[in-house]
Amino acid sequence: MSTAADQAAPAKPASRRSPKSLAGWQRAKEAGETRALITAYDYPFARLAQDARIDGILVGDSLGMTVQGQRDTLPVTLEQIIYHTGMVARGAPDCLIMADLPFGSFEQSREQAFASAAQLLKAGADIVKLEGGAPMVETVRFLSERAVPVCAHIGLTPQHVRQFGGFRRQGTTDEAAAKLRNDAYALAEAGARMLLMEAIPAELGREITKLVPVPTVGIGAGPGTDAQILVMHDVLGLSGDYLPGFAKRYLDGAALITDAIGRFAEEIRTGRFPEPS
Ligand code: KIV
Repeated sequence: MSTAADQAAPAKPASRRSPKSLAGWQRAKEAGETRALITAYDYPFARLAQDARIDGILVGDSLGMTVQGQRDTLPVTLEQIIYHTGMVARGAPDCLIMADLPFGSFEQSREQAFASAAQLLKAGADIVKLEGGAPMVETVRFLSERAVPVCAHIGLTPQHVRQFGGFRRQGTTDEAAAKLRNDAYALAEAGARMLLMEAIPAELGREITKLVPVPTVGIGAGPGTDAQILVMHDVLGLSGDYLPGFAKRYLDGAALITDAIGRFAEEIRTGRFPEPS
């Protein structure tokens, strides 16, 4: 039954109430509101993302490719994610900060996963993300029972790129789709607070979103997920010529930045910078 206070003040949308709190994300799912995340790796871009009213920021191991120029995410270390998480958390104190457990920092044992996750939370993360389906269920349970909120990442998990033989779409056969459904359900049952799905058929993304009680985040998983995420460098046109089929470029950042630096260099060469004053 609604109270007089409820009738007096129209409720703010759940998505604008508390992007920092996982309970707010849960309410947004229940209210059918779609939330927006983006990756960021440093203070200034995290600040800009928060100013742009993004809900969540992922300090992704994609920084191996976007920032370090590696061919995939495998070389990224836990120390590097800790370093970048601190910067992002300081730049966007009002956003949900999700930090990746990089390859080699969590697979060996549940204790190793806890020790790594604890360092990410101490660096400023609100939730850690780990890649993997069924083999990670007990790790997710172990972390969840020890005060570590976890987002489980399934579908195209880039840390398995060598095993997959490339960045390939997943869940495209009936058998693979059934396995992803089972994995998603088991991970949520084990305590995962969010589920990220990458590069899977749109219909499967929608089905899993209905199946699991926790918010889902999609990247190349169609429009039916509870939230969407893209890599910042793809959105801003800073990732070179290659753009994944599911990504969208909103700015030709490379051209704008090259032009600005070029004009600066030209003014130095022609004596127009610095001005005498
Ligand atoms: O590392 C990353 O940026 C990611 C996204 C692709 C979801 O995991």
